[in-house]
Amino acid sequence: MCGIFGVITNQKDISIGKIAFEGIKRLEYRGYDSCGIVTQFNSKLYVKKESGRIDEIQKKINLTDFPNGSKLALAHTRWATHGAPTKNNSHPHLDCSGEIAIVHNGIIDNFIELRKELTDKGHIFKSDTDTEIIPHLIEDFIKDGLNLKDAVIRALKRCRGAYAIAICYAKSPDLIFVARKGSPLVIGIDQDRATYCASDIPAFLPLTRYCYIMDDDELAKLEAGKVSFFNINDDTRIEKELQEIEWSIDAAEKGGYEHFMLKEIYEEPMALRRTMKIHKDQIINFANELWSASNIYITAAGTSFYASLAGKYIITKFLGKYIHAVECSEFKNELAECLRENSVVIALSQSGETIDTIDAIRWAKRKKGVKVLSITNVVGSTITRYSDHVIVTRAGPEIGVAATKTYCTQVLTLALIALEIAKLRKIESFEEIKKYYEALNSTPSIIEEFLETKVDSVKKIIRCLDKEHNFFFLARGISIATAKEGGLKLKEIACRFIEGYSAAHAKHGPISLVRDGFPIIFIAPPDETYERLIGNVMEFKARGGKIISLVVESDEKITELSDITIRIPQPGDRYHNLFSPITFIPALQLLAYYTALSHGLDPDKPLNLSKTVTVH
Ligand code: AGP
Repeated sequence: MCGIFGVITNQKDISIGKIAFEGIKRLEYRGYDSCGIVTQFNSKLYVKKESGRIDEIQKKINLTDFPNGSKLALAHTRWATHGAPTKNNSHPHLDCSGEIAIVHNGIIDNFIELRKELTDKGHIFKSDTDTEIIPHLIEDFIKDGLNLKDAVIRALKRCRGAYAIAICYAKSPDLIFVARKGSPLVIGIDQDRATYCASDIPAFLPLTRYCYIMDDDELAKLEAGKVSFFNINDDTRIEKELQEIEWSIDAAEKGGYEHFMLKEIYEEPMALRRTMKIHKDQIINFANELWSASNIYITAAGTSFYASLAGKYIITKFLGKYIHAVECSEFKNELAECLRENSVVIALSQSGETIDTIDAIRWAKRKKGVKVLSITNVVGSTITRYSDHVIVTRAGPEIGVAATKTYCTQVLTLALIALEIAKLRKIESFEEIKKYYEALNSTPSIIEEFLETKVDSVKKIIRCLDKEHNFFFLARGISIATAKEGGLKLKEIACRFIEGYSAAHAKHGPISLVRDGFPIIFIAPPDETYERLIGNVMEFKARGGKIISLVVESDEKITELSDITIRIPQPGDRYHNLFSPITFIPALQLLAYYTALSHGLDPDKPLNLSKTVTVH
């Protein structure tokens, strides 16, 4: 997920660089590993770009300093998905002539074949990004005699994937073209002076409250104080409704949500859909390494560790070998004498900067020469430098301290590896594997349906648990990971003491804590452990526990034993218990979020926590 911003104005004596810098700075939460600005003046383009955070870059190269008199600028802040966060990979990207510049948010899925085609035609590329093929495609069509608008349309029709792009041309000082497919793009308008484009409303909210929301397959021509819209597929004119924005700037930055944590929970469907499109080769590499390894370990911290527990359960179902899950801070202690050379270590870290995780894999590589496979959400993060293979999830920046959407994309990635192993080992029929993929592909829509229809059942629980400070989250099988992750959320965000635990194991001591009304939340998908779990529910109920259960829509037996239930949508054969760690977790994330609010806590600023733990 990146941020793009553009401005075209008729104002004199203004600094177009300053307007662009301030606009892109307001989108920094969308990505912050590089930034760049391009302006047009006297039939030339002027580009400034660098890797690093926006403020560091500003100190280094003064992003606001451009020739006076320029009337347009494009700006970009990057969250790398293809190509490390280097200066060459930062946007804007230009064509060979240096006369066409674009900024892009999205992923062009077929960029490899297009890049080869363009290279064979003599185009020279300067970056490793997917984006850079777009200006070169436009350049080709302009050379074929098309005008800029038609060249842009033809180029975009060659691209598959998602884009929100803004294009400027050295020979066109008074217009910008923008287009949208699958990535957000909004147009701000000040009819007397200027027109803006941006990934999100906050970028231009201090400049105008009037905007148009672009839809997929739309192209817009921006001139100072006016805009015209076209359908990319047939080039017909489109009339769109001008809207007035009521949000405050702070609310706008969170997309209208009160907190980043809530925004990122609601982004889970989109994050999962994007992560489903991870390059197959990367999944196959991981599957092959695991299939040929003698000993396999998985290590991480916090939420990433609980994603590891869920993922290891899914993978071992198909791999037929055990995976040892070891908390990264204990990795060296536990394995000092027994880690063997031909082992493989899977490391999970959404930030890619958790020092204990990095220490663990660095030690494993140095001492024992093992293979390291990392799954992270940040391209070029430290963890990737100590890894033999890396998969980058596509959750986009996660600003909230609580990991939410990145947990879901981590489990999804491990599930994709598991299904690849099932194919490799041919242990399931083609039909069976197809069903697993359909169920995995349905996890985003199950979460969407839950977020649209079931959130009130979560809020209802808050009202009855308001006075409670201690809870059990109990489960069996794969749901123990869900119980532990759900418990962590309530601990870190709502300052409630939760024991996320095995429902069977709780009989060996913890059950002694249960008194009348003690809240116990059972995570109860109808999987192979369900019948045994019924017995556990009865044991806790008999001791006065208040039974709250997380069940699928069709559930009856545990529902009957429960005081309260939260129901997870279960769309027929498109639901599978194996992926319940993904579909059940939003309920527990929201439980933590609304519990925090009910106690006047800020979910985005949990006590004593930072987003990344870079100390031992
Ligand atoms: C989870 O909500 C916390 N933010 C924390 O436990 C986090 O998961 C842990 O610090 C690991 O971070 P990483 O995934 O960036 O390595």
